[in-house]
Amino acid sequence: MDRFDTARALVLAAGARLRLARPEAGAVWEKTGHQDLVTRCDRETEQFLRSGILSAFPGDAIVGEEYPATPPGGTGCVWYLDPIDGTTNFVSQHRNYAVSVGCYQDGVPAFGLVLDVERGALYSARHGGGALRDETPIHVSHCGVLRDALLTTPGVLHTFLREHPRRAGLVELAGAVRGVRSMGCVALELCAVAAGEAELFVALRSCPWDHNAARIILAEAGGCICALDGAPLPKDTGSAVLAACSRPLLEQVLAGISANTSSRENG
Ligand code: IPD
Ligand code: CA
Ligand code: CA
Repeated sequence: MDRFDTARALVLAAGARLRLARPEAGAVWEKTGHQDLVTRCDRETEQFLRSGILSAFPGDAIVGEEYPATPPGGTGCVWYLDPIDGTTNFVSQHRNYAVSVGCYQDGVPAFGLVLDVERGALYSARHGGGALRDETPIHVSHCGVLRDALLTTPGVLHTFLREHPRRAGLVELAGAVRGVRSMGCVALELCAVAAGEAELFVALRSCPWDHNAARIILAEAGGCICALDGAPLPKDTGSAVLAACSRPLLEQVLAGISANTSSRENG
């Protein structure tokens, strides 16, 4: 099996295990605080993915959320794993969480896989091959005006309520769009933009394992993504993220945010 087929089989198997799992009392821990959880299932799923990948491709490097990165082994291939994106949802709702696996060859996107575990929907994309939900091609929305756009953000507190230089611009954006939604899962929210179910995505904090699989799916579906200042979204460091169904909509949002940054909070 090639890397894509190996990853697909591992993600589906991980999802089948998670669907049956229930986080037991005593197997949920706080990381940086009570809004940042990890469970035994996160750790076991990441170990399951890591061992499946490394047994098939021992020279590959792995960057995952719950364990230290494995060093590059010479193939030039790096995997980004989020065993459960949306752990809080996993614990509290047992839905709206994903297994996210992205793969890059020599820094170039190879493929991304995001499994919406409880819906049993697999988003996937190979570089240059378009994006799919299961076997059906997906595409971003054609909406080109803010008043008809839906904005999704995984963290309402950080995006709109905490002080930061771009807050005023984002609050104004929230008033300009049709509505704001929050699922609490970076990967699934980016896939919602890829599938035309939302037009905009903003996150103040996102890590490589949160967005590196879904960004490939979004790009293949026709969307675009950047840091909140318009710079290219880094692949190997955390960043704020802005994504949109089209370049013109992205540029419009960036212009609005930066105008508001200088006039209201930095001025
Ligand atoms: C988190 C989720 C959440 C987002 C956080 C992420 P985790 O990932 O995607 O929606 O707001 O920034 O860290 O911890 O559930 O894998
Ligand atoms: Ca995550
Ligand atoms: Ca996670």
